[in-house]
Amino acid sequence: MHINTLKPQVKSLLIDTEKTLDERLLSVCKLLKQNIDYYNWVGFYFKNGEKKELKLGPYAGEPTDHTIIPFGKGICGQVAVSNENMVVPDVASQDNYISCSISVKAEIVVPIFVNNQNIGQIDIDSNTSDPFTEEDEHFLEYVCAEVAKQLE
Ligand code: SME
Repeated sequence: MHINTLKPQVKSLLIDTEKTLDERLLSVCKLLKQNIDYYNWVGFYFKNGEKKELKLGPYAGEPTDHTIIPFGKGICGQVAVSNENMVVPDVASQDNYISCSISVKAEIVVPIFVNNQNIGQIDIDSNTSDPFTEEDEHFLEYVCAEVAKQLE
């Protein structure tokens, strides 16, 4: 399965306005987790109002204790501040990392921009070492851009 073949399904799930936004985001999480074997946890974090912290949104995978993440903390918190994709091939070598599960080996986080503001992100954990390529970054940038259209 090539990840780009999922793009039309991502788009159609997101434009299904019969469902709430959280339901649509959850469907996207499930689609990605079920179809990409090295995506073992897929979730969204969003800026928590005016606070300098992220709040967990819809996700597919094991429940996490990290429902609130301060800006700057962990991979997610770093992306909230840097406004840039972050790919971590080996989480064990990353000092500023918040562990959710000992089985996680790698992580990718891509920010979501609405009106040029970084309002959240998609976060993927992988139980495979060094699985992410530029294709994942580009695919997830597409997903985030489609999510952003629903938030504008
Ligand atoms: N590992 C993340 C925390 C979120 S969990 O992966 C779900 C981090 O370091 O920010």
